Amino acid sequence: MRRPLVAGNWKMNGSCEQNAALVDGLTSGDRGQQAEMAVFPPSVYVANVAEMLADSGIAWGLQNCAEQEKGAFTGEASAVMAKDLGCKYVLVGHSERRTLFGETDEVVATKVQRLVEQGIVPVLCVGETLEEREAGTTIERVGAQVKAVLDQFDSAGEIVIAYEPVWAIGTGLTATPEQAQEVHAAIRDMLVGYSADLAAKTRILYGGSVNAGTAAELFAKEDIDGGLVGGASLKAEEFLKISRAAG
Ligand code: PGA
Repeated sequence: MRRPLVAGNWKMNGSCEQNAALVDGLTSGDRGQQAEMAVFPPSVYVANVAEMLADSGIAWGLQNCAEQEKGAFTGEASAVMAKDLGCKYVLVGHSERRTLFGETDEVVATKVQRLVEQGIVPVLCVGETLEEREAGTTIERVGAQVKAVLDQFDSAGEIVIAYEPVWAIGTGLTATPEQAQEVHAAIRDMLVGYSADLAAKTRILYGGSVNAGTAAELFAKEDIDGGLVGGASLKAEEFLKISRAAG
């Protein structure tokens, strides 16, 4: 019932030439039958990548957006601009944004609102640190991050949640399918508290060192509806394999 989503977070990587080669590989390759694919290039390249992806069936989005609608915010890009560029999705609250750029749950919730106003689907990233996992507070931490956003979210709307344990991002360490499923199920339980429909329809992605070797087992879990993929999304063949692993 939930169509899997395989999302490629390019982070601050690529060039005009590399992006063209990557997009060419993705559009000409076999993505599998079922999954939806989306890519998140650095914002300066989004217009160009969007042009290359037109009519491909692959969606695109920004890795972040501003809290504000417009104005004197040097270096920022707004949800309105994302809409203008045809973005279907925008990542919000990635752990690198939270850790390196000080984004709080409140900031993240505001960004989600801005996107919803534009009809863009936010991909809300949540996850615990290694210390939090070791202290046994994973569900509490992730739950607080989800709650901060959903308390202000109209449950008739669409949102995607990406569970990304901070200790698994870019480290080569992946949560086991069981560890991931436990958190995904807890998130879905929380969603039921907002609306049964929201819980049933919301895609919950797993992220953190997903690769072609680990994807199939993760995606086979009941509450894992695809992946948010960093490093492995920069290689067309590998990302296509991950997409095919989602069905
Ligand atoms: P990774 O990144 O796959 O390179 O661990 C995932 C992410 O940060 O979204």
